[in-house]
Amino acid sequence: MKKKLFSGIQPSGDVHLGNYLGAIKKWVNLVNDYDCIFCIVDYHAITVDYDASTMQQRILNATASNLAAGLDPEKCVIFAQSHVREHTELAWILNTVISMGHLDRMTQYKEKSEQHKSNVNVGLFTYPVLQAADILLYKGEVVPVGEDQVQHIELAREIARKFNNKFGEIFPEPMEQLSESARIMGLDGKNKMSKSMNNYISLVEPPESIWKKLSTAVTDENRKRRNDPGDPAICNIYTLHKGFSSDSQIEEVRAGCKSAGIGCVDCKKILNENITTELAPIREKNNELIAKPDYIYDVLQTGAKKCSEIAAQTMEEVREAIGVKPSR
Ligand code: AMP
Ligand code: TRP
Repeated sequence: MKKKLFSGIQPSGDVHLGNYLGAIKKWVNLVNDYDCIFCIVDYHAITVDYDASTMQQRILNATASNLAAGLDPEKCVIFAQSHVREHTELAWILNTVISMGHLDRMTQYKEKSEQHKSNVNVGLFTYPVLQAADILLYKGEVVPVGEDQVQHIELAREIARKFNNKFGEIFPEPMEQLSESARIMGLDGKNKMSKSMNNYISLVEPPESIWKKLSTAVTDENRKRRNDPGDPAICNIYTLHKGFSSDSQIEEVRAGCKSAGIGCVDCKKILNENITTELAPIREKNNELIAKPDYIYDVLQTGAKKCSEIAAQTMEEVREAIGVKPSR
């Protein structure tokens, strides 16, 4: 039997190269080796201020991006979190096995409550419990994510352990799986690439715009002149090369940067060429899919149906274990 794999992405804006390299590109290759479920986590996306009138379109866009990047709905399950009601039901129960102290240590909560000072709601605080419910509802064992999510997966393990100790062995303890590009920096060179920072290249960015963004992206700031040697280890352009370029090109720019044999502009030109080539078919597929929302809804509906069956089964076990079997 294949191991169960679960991961999710928020429909909170453009899917960007951080999402692609840190998560989606890897997901595409895992569908043959694992029993995979991928979730568009709309209930997570409502924990910050958002525009309800654009939510449906964002769910469609996020799904289309995943399909366009190569996720094959014949080989894995793709669905929207809100379509399977058991996620919030299990989250409530799991809320009762984890302490506030554990949640208070989450760096994403700390960062987001700084960013959204006027809306530090309870949902933002218990966000990682809903995430644990997402995974545990399907008894997920492997969770491919970017580095920013590792703390949440550790917490999901803690929650599984605490639940099992209290009520009996129901959940496996899920493990994160990181890609080599687990932390892609933004074009500002200071912050992680992120939807909320506007420091990103989108997965469907037009070629002119890719070069416009790359050409002004921050590199190793100590490298002021063309002849100064640079340090690839602290350059975000080099990190992107590792996601998009061939081994020989990566070595060429690494050595060239250190010896000042290659300038930042030439280094960016090689990267631009590779990103543009890799994204072209994804952008094309995405445009085709966006024009067929009914197809995307079908994919999500099929996914939700499969997930609902598994979720209902798990909740039977959970309700039995905690002593709240429905009356008949
Ligand atoms: P999100 O857009 O926050 O829902 O993230 C979806 C997935 O992309 C998660 O697995 C994240 O860890 C991953 N991810 C987001 N931003 C980055 C980044 N800058 N570098 C690497 N992975 C990322
Ligand atoms: N919190 C994750 C993020 O922001 C998204 C997510 C929700 C997720 N539920 C999940 C990721 C379950 C992995 C498994 O990126």
